[in-house]
Amino acid sequence: MKTLDEFINTQAVLKKVGERKFRDPSWDFITADTKILTHGIHSYPAMMIPQVARRAIKLWGKNAKVILDPFCGSGTVLVEAKIKNINSYGFDINPLAILLSKVKTTPLDPIVLREYFRDLKKSIRRRLDQFEKGQIDVEIPGYFNIDYWFKPHISKQLVIVKEEIWKIKDEDVRDFFKVAFSETVRYVSNTRNSEHKLYRIPEEKLKDWNPDVYETFVKYSERNISKMAEFYSIAKDKSAFAKPMYHNVLEKADIEGVDLILTSPPYGDSKTTVAYGQFSRLSLQWLDFDYKLIRAIDRISLGGKPVKSLKHDIPSENLNEVIHLIAEKDEKRAREVLSYFVDFYKASKNLDKILNEGGYVVFVVANRTVKGIRIPTDEIYVEIFESFGYEHEITYVRAIPNKRMPHRVSPSNRKGETVETMAEENIVVLHKSS
Ligand SMILES: C[S@@+](CC[C@H](N)C(=O)[O-])C[C@H]1O[C@@H](n2cnc3c(N)ncnc32)[C@H](O)[C@@H]1O
Repeated sequence: MKTLDEFINTQAVLKKVGERKFRDPSWDFITADTKILTHGIHSYPAMMIPQVARRAIKLWGKNAKVILDPFCGSGTVLVEAKIKNINSYGFDINPLAILLSKVKTTPLDPIVLREYFRDLKKSIRRRLDQFEKGQIDVEIPGYFNIDYWFKPHISKQLVIVKEEIWKIKDEDVRDFFKVAFSETVRYVSNTRNSEHKLYRIPEEKLKDWNPDVYETFVKYSERNISKMAEFYSIAKDKSAFAKPMYHNVLEKADIEGVDLILTSPPYGDSKTTVAYGQFSRLSLQWLDFDYKLIRAIDRISLGGKPVKSLKHDIPSENLNEVIHLIAEKDEKRAREVLSYFVDFYKASKNLDKILNEGGYVVFVVANRTVKGIRIPTDEIYVEIFESFGYEHEITYVRAIPNKRMPHRVSPSNRKGETVETMAEENIVVLHKSS
């Protein structure tokens, strides 16, 4: 392990902002293209940028045989592990995350994809033409609130596109086109596309909202094929596996022997921060996932079940302090914040069991502000892992240059009520001694 002095000497740009904590602009990657390779085939809230994952693997996964991202989301870490030819696992409770991670890490020959795509376009076009001429009718699926989120003629066209994709026999190819379909569903719906939560386009603007389902699907498919071509050229010969698994990190996991845990966990509960379930709901319905499972995502997400009291056994002075300060202003909010850390502590114990001695845990996490009180989530993570005997190697603070992470978000969807979130995030590096 490097000493702190060695870190500082090798990286002159570092600015000390705390105990073993440094602001390092070289982690900002301001001008980097974050949509390279299959990273760019589908949007997802609070994605880790590939450059951060790549550098973290290089620094702390040099000799790793297995990498785990226990909150894998759209699979950024798994893609980067694959191109480094390192085996990887990913956990998530969102089936869309599992689909995206699978497709992004499965190299498919672009020549083959283009052949499938030619046939697919032809068959979709033929049926859409028949539909437009009134020669066939299509039944709108009974998804919850479908007429609120989609205009009827849009739903009917989506049914046609979907049925043609579902006819593809090769599962990997079918899944590949499901990803473009999912992006299409999101784009042509009545939702405001710039938001991760489900907000409907205002009534007066909705009148003029007439997206072209076919053109949208074709556009996303073409983009995704070229992204896959980039990935395929690098990954086709890599034998390492990438295994995204539908798994709740609060439950005991069935894997072992992990050398590096690299992840960006949710930074708070999904009700008052990022609602992954809401973001995915429309896609998941169109992808035929069970509605109960879809509704459960935000509930079983970290902090989804509020604790009943402020008592806890989490070994963190920082946490005690902020919970106390928030509770003085609002006891319910304090319990909501605490519930996230109660779950995080439980998850951490599970992760500790999986990690090999000598391994690293790297968290990429932002600190949020609740009731005007900044929660030092990164430092709370450090205290938790120190209580397991880990050593805090370093924390780098990076700016979040792009606008995907809003600086102000609305808690509980209450109109007009916003809280400051963050424009910086921390890369927290912890080492499990051998
Ligand atoms: C910040 S996102 C991860 C984004 C990911 N790094 C990427 O690049 O796309 C956090 C993820 O944690 C997942 N999550 C929340 N609670 C979970 C739990 N209890 N078990 C597993 N995953 C969970 C969410 O569904 C979400 O996909």
